[in-house]
Amino acid sequence: MKVLFKNIKQLLQIRDVHEVKVSGSHMNELPCISNAYLLVENGFIKAFGEMAQCPTLDAEVVDATGKMLLPSWCDSHTHIVYAGNREGEFVERIKGASYEEIAANGGGILNSAKQLQSLPEDELYAQSATRLEEVISLGTGAVEIKSGYGLTVDAELKMLRVIKRLAADYTIPIRSTFLAAHALPAEFKSDRKAFLESMTGEILEVIKKEQLAQYIDVFCETGYFSVEEMVDVLMAGRELGLIPKVHVNQFTTIGGVKAAVDLSALSVDHLELLNSDDLEALKGSDTMPVALPGCSYFLGIPYTPARDIIDAGLPLALATDFNPGSTPSGNMNFAVSSACIKMGMTPEEAINAATLNGAYAMGLEEEVGSITVGKRANLILTKPINSYGVLPYAYGSNLIHQVYVNGEPWIN
Ligand code: NIG
Ligand code: FE
Repeated sequence: MKVLFKNIKQLLQIRDVHEVKVSGSHMNELPCISNAYLLVENGFIKAFGEMAQCPTLDAEVVDATGKMLLPSWCDSHTHIVYAGNREGEFVERIKGASYEEIAANGGGILNSAKQLQSLPEDELYAQSATRLEEVISLGTGAVEIKSGYGLTVDAELKMLRVIKRLAADYTIPIRSTFLAAHALPAEFKSDRKAFLESMTGEILEVIKKEQLAQYIDVFCETGYFSVEEMVDVLMAGRELGLIPKVHVNQFTTIGGVKAAVDLSALSVDHLELLNSDDLEALKGSDTMPVALPGCSYFLGIPYTPARDIIDAGLPLALATDFNPGSTPSGNMNFAVSSACIKMGMTPEEAINAATLNGAYAMGLEEEVGSITVGKRANLILTKPINSYGVLPYAYGSNLIHQVYVNGEPWIN
């Protein structure tokens, strides 16, 4: 099946197959072709170029006059599989309670875990599929999903099996992360070791046997899990082939960035607080820093210092962190806007961070994240807009005319 997009006002994010991520000052470059065509064959990008070179062939034609075409958003950090909601805690926070206080009183992650443990797998699947369909409609064309709201071996496996079913049933690429240590259940309060042993024991064999995850994660944070605990968990995961990809530096800087980089983590995510040692640790590494501006917005915590990261010559990816507690939104358009409005990123930097660098942060850089021959035709066709700067500028508008998944219009 062939689809030919013609008269595209601007085709954005054109990359050579060898460009797997963009760093430092290069993040401010967004290679584009004006008045372009793009040919899709059997779901993959077959050719593109200026309209003057547009081939004449038998294909379904999409007239993109006045519209921009860009690769779909690549959301490398989500917790889309969860049970119920936490809007009660949201109201408590409005009335003055802090996120930390709510968590200390048995709310927070433990609240979500309680809801998830009692929910049958099929219902968890149904709730999660609804969220996944919503984010695809919002332009997400590849996504990573974590476990971590189970907190028992059975409930964690239930989450991972739901992620695997979603990956089989939906046609966008989905990567799975075993979030082995997200919070300490109350019953393990006096025996942290026993909890960590349960999450690094037989469960890892099951994950390997059933191919339930590619990555392993730990919430390394004061009051959650220490750097030493994170290292032990990541090492256990790595032995069974799981690559580290972690939550660090959300509220405090305790050395998690360097420890994760030393273990060749694919990404270090959150980084709302970042010191010079953390920045130094990232330099020269293959680890992708990931910012989650939706989390900063919702919790009222600092935004990841994007300028420090990019100006140090490092790459940066943007993701949503879609979850019930700190970021109840999977809207990548909002992540891109808030990166520009609140983190001082240019539209070019934010689009690079939300496409190619996002793909890299979940190991999908060969499949999605740019307009490259051979990549999947997961695309966003915008409404008629003046320039791509309007995407972050008009932060509350839906500027998507049509989302394409494997070259086919996504109808929700
Ligand atoms: O990435 N920081 C840790 N985990 C999630 C949110 C946890 C929750 O409140 O449910 C996050 O923000
Ligand atoms: Fe998260």
